[in-house]
Amino acid sequence: MRILVSDPVSQQGVELLQKEYEVDVKTQLPIEELIRIIPEYDALVVRSETKVTKAVIEAAANLKVIGRAGVGVDNIDVPAATQKGIVVLNAPEGNTIAATEHTMAMMLSLARNIPQAHASLKDGKWLRSKMMGVEMRGKTLGILGLGRIGSGVAKRALAMEMNIVAYDPFISHEQAEALGIKLVELADIFPVADFITLHLPKTNETKNLLNKETFAKMKPGVRIVNCARGGVVNELDLAEAVEQGIVAGAAIDVFEQEPVDPNHPLLKLDKVIVTPHLGASTAEAQVGVAVDVAIGIMAVLKGEPISTAVNMAPIQSHTLDVIRPYFNLAEKMGCLAINLAEGRISAVDIEYNGEISEVDTKMLTTAVIKGLLNSILTEHINYVNAPGVAKSRGIKIREVKSKEAANFSNLITVCVHTDKKSHTVAGTLFGHEEGRIVMIDAYRVDVDPRGWLIVGPHINRPGIIGTVGTVLGNAGINIDSMQVGRTEVAGTNIMVMGVDSDIPASVMLKFNAVDGILGAKLVNFSAI
Ligand code: NAD
Ligand code: MLT
Repeated sequence: MRILVSDPVSQQGVELLQKEYEVDVKTQLPIEELIRIIPEYDALVVRSETKVTKAVIEAAANLKVIGRAGVGVDNIDVPAATQKGIVVLNAPEGNTIAATEHTMAMMLSLARNIPQAHASLKDGKWLRSKMMGVEMRGKTLGILGLGRIGSGVAKRALAMEMNIVAYDPFISHEQAEALGIKLVELADIFPVADFITLHLPKTNETKNLLNKETFAKMKPGVRIVNCARGGVVNELDLAEAVEQGIVAGAAIDVFEQEPVDPNHPLLKLDKVIVTPHLGASTAEAQVGVAVDVAIGIMAVLKGEPISTAVNMAPIQSHTLDVIRPYFNLAEKMGCLAINLAEGRISAVDIEYNGEISEVDTKMLTTAVIKGLLNSILTEHINYVNAPGVAKSRGIKIREVKSKEAANFSNLITVCVHTDKKSHTVAGTLFGHEEGRIVMIDAYRVDVDPRGWLIVGPHINRPGIIGTVGTVLGNAGINIDSMQVGRTEVAGTNIMVMGVDSDIPASVMLKFNAVDGILGAKLVNFSAI
């Protein structure tokens, strides 16, 4: 596995990846060069400089994961990655404090003209009256976007005795009240806010959210802070509003085009203070995001789901802790169930019994589907594309849950329905991480699902096991483990043999030709 790091990220993250993988750090690559070399890599790590366009993704023949060392993924074509089954993950928490503190620094600098005073004094000018500022206490702060950074800013602004009004249509009034903040409509913020700070992602809805029309509705003398994304504030309209005196000043960390053109109108205005996208630039944040992204990338390369993927169903980290030990088992159960099935598959029922039924199991269901589809399709199926591929093939996926779990504290049962016959497998964990198949159709078994398994229903009479043993022995195939499953069904039984290598189709034909064998299947778990 090879990893390309195409933007500068903290060395701690790179070293973590180097412990297990070959890592190339190549920054400032022209896009043509990135497109040329990307087929060599399994994973890509970026900050915001690298533009991971559709063309890059189309060229990325082996790419499994793109890790963004930071929050915003607007430099990555996420829909194109999703379509190709590439996981896109970010590091959403590592730089929250850094960006929050930078926002406060920008707001205070703006209120007290600190950058202008600093520059003029260094220039030999002692300008006291010209640098008169305003206080924060008692002023109204409008916060647009009350997520991680927005709420961090709110807490700090409350400590500075500001009044806060916030706009975020995706959080509840209860969440806002818990922070001591009033949620209002966007239009209600403009006439009352003395400061407006933005903390939302750049999307089709938020692009140009602040523009000529909205500036016209604002309280004259308002101050604007943008440490979120360039383009959520229309830059030319802002420059004009500052020149007209509607906006008393602005503090801008992010620009629509970065690096910003030195002739940009905002850079010409004394009342606009700027930083070159420094929100996340603290030593602590850069180590935090680089390590978080490295951990996420390693998990994806090992086939594990993660909580920071932006193009997979969201999963809480405490839920992930509960379900993580079951992923490998769930995937193997999907693989086993589809190998037993015959005919056109129409639906898969996945039943969760016991304590596990009390958490969100969607990702485990995806693991079952991943194992199932990877056994029958040539395209690579992963946690990103598995649900979509199942849907596009008309396979209905149903989850059933019950706290009751006879004989086991937790049990997962997978039933594959086809137009011929349904097949069921059930599995559980022994201890905390030993996955076991405990039921195959009506047969009670105790199977360690690894390597290659022959699952052979047969008539319950003497001599059959000896004969198939001879078939395998003659082909030079070593039997690792062997057991016979019990059943209530009179006259039939099931043998499950673990073998330590793949079995040629010609040998399986001989195996199935043994009188009394009722259709044995070879199941390959070696890649899971
Ligand atoms: P977050 O996901 O925790 O919060 C974003 C909030 O915006 C969410 O609560 C969401 O509900 C809200 N939102 C989404 N669409 C909205 C809309 N149309 N109207 C109003 N609210 C909307 O993200 P975060 O970690 O707080 O980051 C906020 C922004 O800051 C992002 O754009 C991120 O990329 C940026 N950021 C910048 C820097 C920097 O260096 N300047 C550093 C970190 C993050
Ligand atoms: C982010 O979205 O995390 C920030 O803009 C910081 C960065 O780009 O590194």
